Amino acid sequence: KEQTYIMIKPDGVQRGLVGPIISRFEARGFKLVALKLVHATPEHLQKHYEDLKEKSFFPGLIKYMASGPVVAMVWEGLDAVKTGRVMLGATNPLASAPGTIRGDYALAVGRNICHGSDSVDSAKKEIALWFPEGIVQYNTLLAPMIFE
Ligand code: GTP
Ligand code: MG
Repeated sequence: KEQTYIMIKPDGVQRGLVGPIISRFEARGFKLVALKLVHATPEHLQKHYEDLKEKSFFPGLIKYMASGPVVAMVWEGLDAVKTGRVMLGATNPLASAPGTIRGDYALAVGRNICHGSDSVDSAKKEIALWFPEGIVQYNTLLAPMIFE
C-alpha cells in the first residue's frame, strides 16, 4: 500500500483542527502508521521545503512553519499521495472546493493549515526526513472491509 506524509501546520494546531483533520483520514479508511507533535527548527523546515527556496515567500513560509508545533503523520492506503492531496484541496484555499480541508477551514495561501506530499517520491523523502526512526507496523482488523 502507498504511504503519504501529511502534516498539520502551526495554524491548524493553534486553531484546534488536529482532531477534525485526523478524523477525515480515519473515516476515509486510511491507516495511521506514524504520528508525532514536533516544534521543527528552521533548518529542518528548509530541508522539507527545499524545492521552494528561491521563492519570494520562502522566508515567510519558514517563519510561519517554525512558529509553533506541527503534527507530523504518515497515512497508508490506496493511492494515498494523490487522494491525500485531493482531501487537502488546492494550495490556495480560495480555490479549494468546499468539502476539502482547506476549502472548509482556510482562507489564505500562507495559512493553509495542512501539508501533503505531492508525489510518491517526495512522500518517501519526507517520511525519511520527519520519521528517521521509522514508521509503525501493525494490522488493522477492518482491512477486508476497506479493501477488496
Ligand atoms: P504543501 O502541501 O504545504 O507543500 O503545499 P502545496 O504542495 O499545495 O504547495 P507548494 O508546495 O507549492 O507550497 C508550499 C506552501 O508554501 C503552501 O502550502 C503555502 O503555505 C506556501 N505558499 C505557496 N505559494 C505561496 C504564495 O504564493 N504565497 C505565500 N505566502 N505562500 C505560498
Ligand atoms: Mg508542496
